[in-house]
Amino acid sequence: MKHAGIKNGGMKDWLHFATRLARNPRAVGAIAPSGARLARLMAAEVDSIGHGRVLELGPGTGSITRALVAHGIAPDRIVAIEADARFARTIAKKFPGITVIQGDAFDLKHLEGDEPFDAVISGIPLRNFPGERGQQLIEGMLDRLPGHGLFVQFSYGLRPPVERRNGLGVRLAGTSWRNVPPARVWVYRKTA
Ligand SMILES: C[S@@+](CC[C@H](N)C(=O)[O-])C[C@H]1O[C@@H](n2cnc3c(N)ncnc32)[C@H](O)[C@@H]1O
Repeated sequence: MKHAGIKNGGMKDWLHFATRLARNPRAVGAIAPSGARLARLMAAEVDSIGHGRVLELGPGTGSITRALVAHGIAPDRIVAIEADARFARTIAKKFPGITVIQGDAFDLKHLEGDEPFDAVISGIPLRNFPGERGQQLIEGMLDRLPGHGLFVQFSYGLRPPVERRNGLGVRLAGTSWRNVPPARVWVYRKTA
């Protein structure tokens, strides 16, 4: 059976994923694109909130982007930030209507603008970034979202990539055992 990321993304995308993984393993942080079940688990969390925009960090070959659209999030509500030029071009081509920015997901200015965001959905390999960068990203983004806003992150460890602390809550939304490797979906919210 083909891996879902290969089946949906096409062999060219997969080859680029593998090449980028070989050149910059820390930035890619996964041995394969996310599978469809993991992507659905993530999109289902975003589905349950309001009608604001959704910021996707590190869409790669687009597994999670596809799940967002399949869950009924209109493409014009999605803004995707991808560091790699080729992945960014691929996302723009595959998903007309989505705003794609080739840039740094850690730049909080992506949440600025007149139209509010409700959620951030992230495929960034947070554990690969040093020190407090993961925590700063999640807290910085939640500070810029409305009170009901959420930050959805997948991760391969048993524990959340950033632990709960004062003002920051996290819950396990689900585990995709069939993902390669198995992955968990964590949902962060502000608690104060
Ligand atoms: C683990 S892959 C996930 C790809 C896709 N979301 C998925 O689930 O299959 C990580 C992605 O994040 C991108 N990335 C890593 N660091 C980034 C950064 N600072 N800003 C934007 N994108 C970044 C990589 O280029 C890659 O596409």
